[in-house]
Amino acid sequence: MRGRMPRPLADVAGIVLSLHSIKHTVAPVGIYRGKYEWANENSPVGGDCSLWVRSATLQLDDGQWQCQVTASNYDVQDALSSPPAALAVRVPPQSPRILFNGSHILPGQNITVPAGSRATVVCEARYGNPPAYIEWYLEKERLTAWSQTNASEVERPRVWASRSVLELGATRSAHGRQLACRAHHPSYPAPYYKDSYTMLDVTFAPVVSIVGADTSSLGSLEEGSSSLTLECKADGNPAPYIWWTRNGQVIATNGPKLMLAPVMRNHSDPPRVTWVGPDTVVEANLFSQVTLECKADGNPAPSYQWFHK
Ligand SMILES: *[C@@H]1O[C@H](CO)[C@@H](O)[C@H](O)[C@H]1NC(C)=O
Ligand SMILES: *[C@@H]1O[C@H](CO)[C@@H](O)[C@H](O)[C@H]1NC(C)=O
Ligand SMILES: *[C@@H]1O[C@H](CO)[C@@H](O)[C@H](O)[C@H]1NC(C)=O
Ligand SMILES: *[C@@H]1O[C@H](CO)[C@@H](O)[C@H](O)[C@H]1NC(C)=O
Repeated sequence: MRGRMPRPLADVAGIVLSLHSIKHTVAPVGIYRGKYEWANENSPVGGDCSLWVRSATLQLDDGQWQCQVTASNYDVQDALSSPPAALAVRVPPQSPRILFNGSHILPGQNITVPAGSRATVVCEARYGNPPAYIEWYLEKERLTAWSQTNASEVERPRVWASRSVLELGATRSAHGRQLACRAHHPSYPAPYYKDSYTMLDVTFAPVVSIVGADTSSLGSLEEGSSSLTLECKADGNPAPYIWWTRNGQVIATNGPKLMLAPVMRNHSDPPRVTWVGPDTVVEANLFSQVTLECKADGNPAPSYQWFHK
């Protein structure tokens, strides 16, 4: 430390530098060659108490330093103390790691979440000093974390565990996209950050539609010569299993395309009576009026006839 200090007495042992650890315990530091050395011992100006701290270690040197100078004589009140200077011995944290649902996500592993739900994802960068600064990215888009906390490691109190908590709203559009946690630290090699990745696997129920069944293509079919290809579009995650049925009978299980070549009369849905009412037995008074109803499904639309035996 530089400053206007009284010239030290010839007895160098009379000058002490004190180390204040985080716990504010104070220990004087002596001069040891190769560890703590005067920086400008032979300075012509004199009074320069600058100190070399060599081979800095977290355990010995991290903390607040203060230069104290004893009085120039026992009856002179000119003792001095410098303001404290913080010395941070930097330690690179471990690479960041992503946690989901209480377990670490290994490289290449996915996070599976249902669409519409919220997922809590944690990223931690441990054993660093100072604490790492954590950011989140969905592909190139920067996300805002809910919070970052820095806690000193229980078994090594001079280094820090940084934890960032992200509340992620899972949408279908996020499916298959990369989520990255980035820890910044000046002791990492350039560019001074490290990333950890996972891929989002957003599950959603399939939406089903049939392609090729529009009325114009269905209305111009000729039995025995036309062909018809129907495709079942079912977009879902995980990929749905698709099969075709006619009148409840499974007719194809080999994928989303159904080819009817050539089309036959019996490819259409035969009509099926779905409702006869108002009841199976209808009682009515003589000369009163009764309405009977018949409903049926079919393709093409069925025509109706009533029979009386
Ligand atoms: C979390 O893990 C437990 C078992 O470890 C599992 O039963 C549960 O389904 C998981 N929850 C999510 C949202 O993945
Ligand atoms: C944790 O450490 C980072 C990096 O040093 C800092 O940016 C952040 O403000 C700290 N957070 C808290 C809550 O102390
Ligand atoms: C991760 O999800 C993608 C997209 O759904 C999928 O293609 C891939 O097989 C999954 N990987 C693992 C390891 O589950
Ligand atoms: C449809 O009718 C043809 C004869 O016209 C017959 O060979 C075929 O088995 C029938 N298919 C079904 C599913 O009933």
